[in-house]
Amino acid sequence: MKTLLFTLDPWNPDPVVLKESADVIRRGGLVAFPTETVYGLGANALDPEAVKKIYAAKGRPSDNPLILHLSRPEQAEYLVYMDDRARRLMAAFWPGPLTLVLKARDVIPPVTRGGLDTAALRMPDHPIASALIEASGCPLAAPSANVSGRPSPTDAQTVWQDLQGRVDRVLDGGPVRVGIESTVVDISTERPLLLRPGGMSREILEEFLGVPLGVPDGQSKRRSPGTRYRHYAPAVPVKIWSPGDPLELEEGYSPSEWAFMGLSEPPAHFGYVLRFASVENYARGVFTGFRTLETVWKGIVAEWPPESGVGLGLRDRILRAASISEGE
Ligand code: TXA
Ligand code: MG
Repeated sequence: MKTLLFTLDPWNPDPVVLKESADVIRRGGLVAFPTETVYGLGANALDPEAVKKIYAAKGRPSDNPLILHLSRPEQAEYLVYMDDRARRLMAAFWPGPLTLVLKARDVIPPVTRGGLDTAALRMPDHPIASALIEASGCPLAAPSANVSGRPSPTDAQTVWQDLQGRVDRVLDGGPVRVGIESTVVDISTERPLLLRPGGMSREILEEFLGVPLGVPDGQSKRRSPGTRYRHYAPAVPVKIWSPGDPLELEEGYSPSEWAFMGLSEPPAHFGYVLRFASVENYARGVFTGFRTLETVWKGIVAEWPPESGVGLGLRDRILRAASISEGE
């Protein structure tokens, strides 16, 4: 397949490119597009054949459910069973990096929701994403636009590297703003559950809801299959270092052959230092950091960030990259 790349001005995207891209979606094709979190690989969420192409292009297991991307909150009404809490959350936090899991209506094909009776919805805060969804006239199923298991793409060059020849179009809207994926909250049951920490801060959500978010136990892990797989892994080892701790590299490794990424003064003389001025910038740079550093250095030491705000989601991505989270 020949993949076409289009560069768009996010604040004034070319209407002809958008219309043609929407035609590709309506005909069952794949279009990668920017969101505020990471780039997504979009297809018509209501067309099972189109959704199957996403799994094939990414090399992703098909029991891993996808997020349906909307351009307006009202679109949720015909896709899932809504209640007051869902409407209030959407009114407060959409568009933005918050994905809500609700009981699905039958219009959503089982393949889109990985066979579950729930579906995940989100309204991205990005003008190209909104315009593409609006022009397509359907919700877009969109996982991150990377080959399964690789760090998620935060710019179009990375999407191109992973998916060139496997998708119809890539829309380049420049680098993203948040850098890690959305926060996924299950509100299909009475107690809201934090299924995946991400761009939307847990503290703000808990303050709004007036209750602490539950965290998945073994059973609800099965309800969010995406959390089972190893993700975000660079090709070289990643070690976590907390400020104040001694640096522990395996025998035979020298920090001069490794790279450091984080917020603090590195604990040794590293071959390369990728230092961020804030935890928000760390989140913006973590995935491209993994991808660029892995090509040159023997390993990466990643600083353990503070937990608040986007730090919780960043911790999760670093843990997974270091592969010391429980995985499969
Ligand atoms: O920021 C994001 O969320 C990005 C951009 C492109 O929007 N998308 C993204 O999609 O990260 P993906 O497919 O890589 O991650 C979707 C997550 C997975 O952890 C999946 O298990 C969970 O959402 N999920 C989707 N549907 C679900 C459902 N019905 N129940 C529980 N978890 C669900
Ligand atoms: Mg992903």
